[in-house]
Amino acid sequence: GRKFFVGGNWKCNGTTEEVKKIIAVLNGAQVPSGDVVDVVVSPPFVFLPLVQSLLRSDFHVAAQNCWVHKGGAFTGEVSAEMLANLGVPWVIIGHSERRLILNESSEFIGDKVAYALSQGLKVIACVGETLEQRESGSTIDVVYAQTKAIADKISSWDNVVLAYEPVWAIGTGEVATPAQAQEVHHQLRKWLHRNVSAEVAQSVRIIYGGSVNGSNCKELAGLPDLDGFLVGGASLKPEFVDIINSSL
Ligand code: 13P
Repeated sequence: GRKFFVGGNWKCNGTTEEVKKIIAVLNGAQVPSGDVVDVVVSPPFVFLPLVQSLLRSDFHVAAQNCWVHKGGAFTGEVSAEMLANLGVPWVIIGHSERRLILNESSEFIGDKVAYALSQGLKVIACVGETLEQRESGSTIDVVYAQTKAIADKISSWDNVVLAYEPVWAIGTGEVATPAQAQEVHHQLRKWLHRNVSAEVAQSVRIIYGGSVNGSNCKELAGLPDLDGFLVGGASLKPEFVDIINSSL
């Protein structure tokens, strides 16, 4: 079976005091062992060392982004090799906020995933359609194209978790229904089966993100093709613990 995966994407939020508070909650929480659930929290870059120094050893950290190639004269960027050097094991790549607000293309994201993997990082790669795309019936085409742009650039999916995050569900309180989530997750697995391999389709974790909270997580966690969550707003609150425990 695929190990359940719960990621907390803090986005551009937090102060030193708030970081210490949420870490204290996580460190005190009763959760299943690391053999049962992978828990990864993703603070802004500037808080990564603080979180690494405070966080319990069975939870791990992710950066929210990294530069697409080797570091150098790229003002304001943080390279994959810097993250590796700091012992940051994971990085989120291709979040819709970066695709849409920072204009990152699918090809750029594919390159970024490949480079991060080459530096030994594990990647949470995000895909997802906008409301307009869903309403025009192109959801599956969109997530296929985004997944293909990644698949075209990588030779192994061993260190990749795929996150399906419908843009219309992010930060809106409008969570995908279990049927909507299961359908896209199932189609993504089918795509991997046809275009990568049966083995990868079977083993890659496909997690859901978009308005997941302590009350709606349980129903989604039971879906056959859903292997965990990428949580935004609720990852800054104590209910993140309930989401970590949702697969039990
Ligand atoms: P919310 O959980 O705040 O909707 O955000 C989801 C998300 O974008 C996680 O990466």
